[in-house]
Amino acid sequence: MNILSIETSCDETSVAVVSNGGEVKSLVISSQISIHAKFFGVVPELASRVHIEKINPVIAKSLRSAKINFNDFSKKIDAVAFTVGPGLAGTLLVGSVAAKSLASVYKKPLIPVNHLEGHLYSSFIENKSLNPPFLALIISGGHTELVVVEDFGKYRVLGVTRDDAVGEAFDKASKMLGLSYPGGPIIDQRASKGDPLSIKFTRPYLRDSWDFSFSGIKTSLLNYLKSNPIKNEQHLNNICSSFRMAIAETLIFKTFKAVKEFNLKKIVLGGGVSSNSLIRHMFLENGKKDKIEIFIPSPIYCTDNAAMIGCAAYLKQRKCGLNYNNLQLKPSPSLILSNW
Ligand SMILES: Nc1ncnc2c1ncn2[C@@H]1O[C@H](COP(=O)(O)OP(=O)(O)OP(=O)(O)O)[C@@H](O)[C@H]1O
Ligand SMILES: [Mg+2]
Repeated sequence: MNILSIETSCDETSVAVVSNGGEVKSLVISSQISIHAKFFGVVPELASRVHIEKINPVIAKSLRSAKINFNDFSKKIDAVAFTVGPGLAGTLLVGSVAAKSLASVYKKPLIPVNHLEGHLYSSFIENKSLNPPFLALIISGGHTELVVVEDFGKYRVLGVTRDDAVGEAFDKASKMLGLSYPGGPIIDQRASKGDPLSIKFTRPYLRDSWDFSFSGIKTSLLNYLKSNPIKNEQHLNNICSSFRMAIAETLIFKTFKAVKEFNLKKIVLGGGVSSNSLIRHMFLENGKKDKIEIFIPSPIYCTDNAAMIGCAAYLKQRKCGLNYNNLQLKPSPSLILSNW
């Protein structure tokens, strides 16, 4: 089954053609990072306008690289999927209108996909045999969620962040440190040249709950900087390294505690922060030690991309069938995970 999928929840216009949930025939991602970098965050109205500009060329490019032309669409594409939420209202609208138009013109089923399920199932693209039950950790720019996936589409959300998402904490820390946006990649790069034990930032374990909280680490960084202004490059790298370690240890502590408590054998990561090199390394090492299988997508499938939406759409229709012809369906900016 070939699904054409569209992702526009935030600042990436992305379109993919994915076969049977795992064979990515094409993936085009047009990122707006350079446009929003000077504002140190995504400006919603600007993002919507850029999506309008990009959506048609990105659809055409994705079809072209999958060797499909518009005349072949009916024959070669079986369904159209799109991110219905959560995300920015205006940007979601652009993707949903494009998807509905294609589905309507070519008379194809339309599959709405929860963006969080895209991140959650992104490991499936490279591991077709990955099956629930497993523990999923979604770590992205807007979310931090620990979820028991009992079956495809059957979730028990254990914990969420009480304040900043983990990606947001990286982004805000980067601004405090005078570095660029997005903060995750640059902090990760610098951290690898620093000493992770040089500064002891708070570890917000919240031992009585599965929730997360990252505003404490951020405040701890702010307080440190007030009394210890950055001296030189090495000092900056040490701060990045210690900050990254505080976040990685917090995620490891919670996730490995939960996987044991719920007697699961697999941990699946998803979302932009899963491309962090230390987080990847520590999950893999701890998994080896505790005999827990760890699944982490390749970096291209960690940050926003339409292939993960095509993958989640495939899994959804495989379980629920192709009964999604509701062209009235509206984007849902604050959509939460819910069962199929
Ligand atoms: N190597 C890295 N280390 C840490 N964080 C990273 C790294 N690479 C990217 N990130 C972070 O990932 C986030 C972007 O991820 P993603 O695209 O999944 O988020 P989003 O789509 O904006 O949010 P959401 O999926 O919650 O709606 C940013 O906050 C960015 O700083
Ligand atoms: Mg995302």
